[in-house]
Amino acid sequence: QHSQAPTGPLQGRKVVVTAGGTREPLDPVRYLTNRSSGKMGFAVAKAAQRAGADVTLIAANPTLEAPEGIHLVKVQTAAELLEAVQREFSDADVLVMAAAVADYRPAEVVDHKIKKTADNQTMSLKLVRNPDIIQTLAPTKRANQLMIGFAAETNDLIKNAKKKIQSKKLDLIVANDVSQTSIGFNSDNNQVTFLFGDGRQVKTPVESKQKVADQLIEIVAEEFKS
Ligand code: CTP
Ligand code: CA
Repeated sequence: QHSQAPTGPLQGRKVVVTAGGTREPLDPVRYLTNRSSGKMGFAVAKAAQRAGADVTLIAANPTLEAPEGIHLVKVQTAAELLEAVQREFSDADVLVMAAAVADYRPAEVVDHKIKKTADNQTMSLKLVRNPDIIQTLAPTKRANQLMIGFAAETNDLIKNAKKKIQSKKLDLIVANDVSQTSIGFNSDNNQVTFLFGDGRQVKTPVESKQKVADQLIEIVAEEFKS
């Protein structure tokens, strides 16, 4: 049962948000992952709920509690995340891909703990590409659905984010400088540039992830007004 705000600009809209970092197992006791905390995605989910939306939060390895009324789907790997997004996107109005999806996964998952051996001083891991979730979903996107991505960059933020908005056919990208630890990954604060499909750019000050999320949801609400 979803308890949601009785009114609000996103009332009657379904918003799907992904959050967190995927984990790609290597053997029963090890995995590859990244520094994503999930805080940004959780903040977006909360903002959407406050705006009256019906919110599904697909969380990769969450450490946070989902607010009451938000439909939480927990996943581990990029493959599981893709499956969950495919299931939830078809009847959604908005998809916000805040998850940090592993670009590669170990080519094979060993079913026993990998042992070190006396004569092996080095070890190589073979990795294979994970599917791009946004690009997989893009061909199924309807004109009245919004797809929003994040771009985590350590350099050439705007240039790289512009490339991603095009290659992923996004309506909006939230460009995020992750070179400083005071903002971005695992921090409570963030500073982003909203980059629109038409080239418009809006830079936010350093502020809480919740404030950034609130602004993002305001932009989404604007889009549905027009
Ligand atoms: N993304 C995705 N599927 C992937 C990888 C990323 O849907 N397999 C999404 C992320 O959730 C994010 C956007 O694509 O919304 C950009 O992710 P990012 O890692 O910044 O870009 P990549 O396209 O993976 O490029 P790179 O990491 O090489 O910069
Ligand atoms: Ca990536």
